[in-house]
Amino acid sequence: MRNKTALITGAAKRIGKSIAMHMAKNGFDIAIHYNSSKNDAIALQAFLMETYPDQKFKIFKCNLSRINDVETCMDKVLLHFEKIDVLVNNASVFDSGVIQETSVELLQNQMNVNLMAPFILCRDYAMNSQIGVIINLLDTRITTYSSSHAAYSLSKVAFAHLTKMSALEFSPAIRVNGIAPGATLPPENRGQSYLNKMAERTPMKEAGGILPILQSLDYILDNQNLTGQILFCDGGEQLL
Ligand SMILES: NC(=O)c1ccc[n+]([C@@H]2O[C@H](COP(=O)([O-])OP(=O)(O)OC[C@H]3O[C@@H](n4cnc5c(N)ncnc54)[C@H](OP(=O)(O)O)[C@@H]3O)[C@@H](O)[C@H]2O)c1
Repeated sequence: MRNKTALITGAAKRIGKSIAMHMAKNGFDIAIHYNSSKNDAIALQAFLMETYPDQKFKIFKCNLSRINDVETCMDKVLLHFEKIDVLVNNASVFDSGVIQETSVELLQNQMNVNLMAPFILCRDYAMNSQIGVIINLLDTRITTYSSSHAAYSLSKVAFAHLTKMSALEFSPAIRVNGIAPGATLPPENRGQSYLNKMAERTPMKEAGGILPILQSLDYILDNQNLTGQILFCDGGEQLL
């Protein structure tokens, strides 16, 4: 997998960081996008440069809630990498609130970061790529009508639709697929027990962790005929 590049949004921490480390291990050069986690991004870049000295790792800051900034993001990355083989839209905000608790500001921010920004990145990626792969991080919540995270869920439902819509429009040059995790990591203010409690309610009874996401990512990359698919990594939660 030499000379391949992946742009991963929200790559400084958590699932995005695991994806970056996994893809780097598999030979990818990585464009590490971050917003507020500058120190984590720098630390990840330093680790990857030391571990894989023959590969290229660059960090890029962009606030995905500022749509004007998102519109210049792809060009900035392409100044440093001649092409991007894989775009991973991972960055997201996860705010709680039923519909009646949701302010316009919260709704706008969820939509900007979780839908508008990946829409623009997918569009600009397609306009700049002869061939490629897009992988969108969705959520098993796209299958339910629970409004506990109303704006977040709506943004991910629309993002899932965008995944399939863009798979059709961008074919055959670019394959577009989604990964829809269930409870994988607890929110930063909650512990593992919160996650275990949520996982107990799923058919598989246990939180799968990050491994199923990385396995799904590899499957998407390896399967050259796969497009418009959403792989659920949720222990069967989507069946409930
Ligand atoms: N964790 C789970 O159990 C779970 C479950 C279902 C689905 N998912 C999905 O899987 C993906 C990764 O999950 P995660 O829990 O690792 O995500 P996360 O920690 O909530 O967020 C990932 C990154 O998104 C970036 N981000 C947030 N607001 C941004 C903004 N305004 N501009 C640019 N970047 C911004 C942050 O970057 P900075 O830190 O640099 O600001 C953050 O590190 C997400 O798409 C999420 O919806 C996760």
